[in-house]
Amino acid sequence: MLTTILCLVFTAGGGDTVPAFTEKEWNILRSMSPATLLPDTTNEYEQNEDAALLGQHIFFDERLSSNKEISCATCHKPEKYFTDGDQIAVGIGNMTRNTPTVLNAAHQRWFFWDGRTDILWGQPIQTMEHPAEMNISRQDIAAVLEKDKKLEQLWTKTFGKMEESDIDTIAANVAKSIAAYITKLDATHAPFDDFVAGDTQAISPSAQRGLRYFIGEGGCLRCHFGPWITDGAFHSIGVGPIDGGALKDSGRAGAIDKLKTDQFTAGGKHSDDPNGIRATISKHIAKRREDWGSFRTPSLRNVAQTPPYMHAGQLATLEDVLEHYSTLENFVSADHHRETILEPLNLTEPQKVDLIAFLESLTAPLPNEALLTAPK
Ligand code: HEC
Ligand code: HEC
Repeated sequence: MLTTILCLVFTAGGGDTVPAFTEKEWNILRSMSPATLLPDTTNEYEQNEDAALLGQHIFFDERLSSNKEISCATCHKPEKYFTDGDQIAVGIGNMTRNTPTVLNAAHQRWFFWDGRTDILWGQPIQTMEHPAEMNISRQDIAAVLEKDKKLEQLWTKTFGKMEESDIDTIAANVAKSIAAYITKLDATHAPFDDFVAGDTQAISPSAQRGLRYFIGEGGCLRCHFGPWITDGAFHSIGVGPIDGGALKDSGRAGAIDKLKTDQFTAGGKHSDDPNGIRATISKHIAKRREDWGSFRTPSLRNVAQTPPYMHAGQLATLEDVLEHYSTLENFVSADHHRETILEPLNLTEPQKVDLIAFLESLTAPLPNEALLTAPK
């Protein structure tokens, strides 16, 4: 008896105690797994193998930057689960936000931390032409592809002769190719999914307790739910700038105008489904007061592999993230608006250990090795 008690006290979080999930809790768990992608009807090349191969070439090609040193993979490093491990990304210049992973990125409703584009292929040209990122014009991108015999052949096979298209259509097709590649970057089959599928040994007792806290008392599920463990929406959870002071990044509020004026959107001229649901939602979206300083709830799949955390990499470790939710001590209010559903959780050490064990159980293996380097 005494040893059992000591055991519970000294092993992190409560030893082997396994929570008994109720039927209601099992229903919640089943709503969180498995994670599968819906097709993107705005990109007719999404499942095209040649387009994906071309996209993979482009993703690793450093010639596509003004100093010929930066590719997508400079910041989205395969070995770091397609992130860079830095607080704030550095390209040709310094950026202001943390690099999110592109693994599973195709599942998203909105892209970037502020959701300023509504389609996966809305992202690449913005990034490539951005002076602080790759700083290369679409004309120069086209010239590099056209001069490379292998890429030129692949292009012609997929999209027809380049000189017969206008430059914006070429740019859209570059973007759709990259999106086709990113759509293949699937990392969704984690131990957590085996557990939900019925393998009771797939995750540790500690992870199971963390999971129960996550979907119950912890209230995490209010924003992190469903198979991607996110509501896909925007909130302010009070993580302020790295150097202290008031919030400077307007987040979602700054994205709405961009969404209305950007060239490559679900409802735009280059979309393959301009009257679909994505386009319709974007058309009717309006700015709301609470958007200021709000950021997209990130998916928590593979989260243990992608430190540092939050939109500007303000929190170095998962421990720091839990400390934030536990105390809300450094909460920076977006002034007009405090996310009222957040209350300090006052987590105990064992609860933190259990929550981290659960978050770690969301790590899936990296995709097939052939996708992790420039194509041979
Ligand atoms: C200089 C570093 C850097 C380079 C180079 C870079 N990215 Fe990113 N990427 C970022 C950062 C930072 C963000 C988030 C920016 C934001 O939210 O405002 C991001 C966001 C994204 C997103 C959105 C992910 C999401 O969760 O919404 C995708 C997709 C993406 N990048 C793909 C690419 C591709 C493809 C390339 C090459 C064409 C590329 N990136 C080049 C740093 C970089
Ligand atoms: C009110 C909605 C909300 C609730 C409740 C919530 N989160 Fe979050 N979570 C967010 C948002 C929004 C972000 C990103 C904030 C930012 O970048 O400023 C985030 C970020 C995170 C991150 C960092 C992910 C990354 O890639 O940077 C982790 C880990 C996390 N949350 C875990 C949790 C856990 C565990 C709980 C429960 C204790 C929880 N969250 C409760 C909305 C929420």
